[in-house]
Amino acid sequence: MSVKIIGLSGSIRSESLNTKLLRYLRELIPNDVEYEVIDTLGDVPFYNEDMEAEVPEAVVRLRHSVVSASGLFIATPEHNHSFSAPLKNAIDWLSRPPGKGGIARKPVAILGAAPGHFGTMRAQIQLRQVLHATNSIVVARPEVFIADASSKFDGKGRLLDAVGNQLVQELVDNLIAEIRKLEELVA
Ligand SMILES: Cc1cc2nc3c(=O)[nH]c(=O)nc-3n(C[C@H](O)[C@H](O)[C@H](O)COP(=O)(O)O)c2cc1C
Repeated sequence: MSVKIIGLSGSIRSESLNTKLLRYLRELIPNDVEYEVIDTLGDVPFYNEDMEAEVPEAVVRLRHSVVSASGLFIATPEHNHSFSAPLKNAIDWLSRPPGKGGIARKPVAILGAAPGHFGTMRAQIQLRQVLHATNSIVVARPEVFIADASSKFDGKGRLLDAVGNQLVQELVDNLIAEIRKLEELVA
């Protein structure tokens, strides 16, 4: 079965470090795995249950991408010690209808980059808590905090940090292993 992974960016900023990190993953993901980065969560309207009768087009597209993916990377900025508002909004949409919005039972690997010294550590703790509510299958290790990230990418978007690279590769391998394990269970 072919594997497709989505890299969901919690940032809607054009020069986002987190989107850059997600794009860089293409170099670490095996070529036989399809990979697409979504950096358009700014197009998704605020969740409103009234809209469930006629779901906005941006949500239909997002749900379709996530439902059809074998797994997700989520990279989030840290905003006031939490993960970003566009990401929370997207997760709320993806959690409805319960069990069918796309994120339930989906393998998810979390990472993040920030110019500061904590590398989104606090945001990721909260994100894990929310993904517990959505019944997602969160890859436990490694935790990937790319701190002081403004100076850690070269002009081509490659991550320069040796330890960071090791951790990110491990995360990629662990997510793919989780996906393969699930595939074997349902085969
Ligand atoms: C409203 C706001 C709150 C922020 N709060 C934090 C924070 O709590 N911790 C942190 O490390 N950086 C914080 N930052 C800085 C972000 O880490 C920085 O803007 C980062 O580049 C955002 O990720 P992005 O480059 O992927 O957009 C904050 C930035 C904004 C705009």
